[in-house]
Amino acid sequence: MSKILDGKAVSANLRAKVKTQVEELSAQGISVGLAVILVGENPASKIYVANKKKACEEAGIKSFEYTMDESTTEEELIALIKTLNAQENVNGILCQLPLPPHIDEQSVIAAISPEKDVDAFCVSNVGRIMIGDYDFLPCTPAGIIEILDYYGIEIEGKNCVVIGRSNIVGKPMAMLLLHRNGTVTVCHSKTKNLADITKNADILVSAVGKAGFVTADMVKKGAVVIDVGMNRTDGKLCGDVCFEEVAEIADYITPVPGGVGPMTISVLLKNTLTAAKRQNER
Ligand code: GUN
Repeated sequence: MSKILDGKAVSANLRAKVKTQVEELSAQGISVGLAVILVGENPASKIYVANKKKACEEAGIKSFEYTMDESTTEEELIALIKTLNAQENVNGILCQLPLPPHIDEQSVIAAISPEKDVDAFCVSNVGRIMIGDYDFLPCTPAGIIEILDYYGIEIEGKNCVVIGRSNIVGKPMAMLLLHRNGTVTVCHSKTKNLADITKNADILVSAVGKAGFVTADMVKKGAVVIDVGMNRTDGKLCGDVCFEEVAEIADYITPVPGGVGPMTISVLLKNTLTAAKRQNER
């Protein structure tokens, strides 16, 4: 039976560190603020945004919430972002994705000032990550690295397989594992003989978004299995991994909920703190 990688515990540890540093800045008269923009009615996004707001408050970070109608135009959204770019008490800006289909996500991301782009989604921040010279790391992949570090799981020299190639998780995850000298393979919907590849993984990260996608026959004995999936089956939150059967084989596994999810928000808080520090250095 595998050891559970407890994202809640790792998260609590990181959030406590962020909170202490926010208090230290506050003692110097520097406040830390995050603007969170939600457009439309996506139910999952509403929950994520509410969780982000609560986590900010607990860490002493001021959260500014902007809830915009589904019919908001791209121009209106970008106008709000430009106002927030210029606002000194806003150190970070996060626009929750996905956006309604009539809004071009890349144009919106490009409007966020790179030093306030706490998701690390804009082209210049992605480029800085590629070359290893960055202020912020993308929240979910960085949260996974934090979990591996917390449990002392070595990445160097390991076969790391990432399933999924999204800009938010798969691609940056591959880059961060590569920075740590992992040997990285990225699989996706067109990959042939997926199980042959995943069975070689010492560290397997699944970011597919399909419940029950990773089965025991796809996992090597002794592997570390990281489940990024956030799926609902019969209203119940579950990941991509068939937890019970894979837990019999893997050495370490993240649960859903309570694995990667809480880490995403913790890294967001860390990035917002970093943004505030950078903006007050000048
Ligand atoms: N939608 C799903 N995950 C994320 C995230 O990390 N940041 C933003 N902005 N939107 C998301």
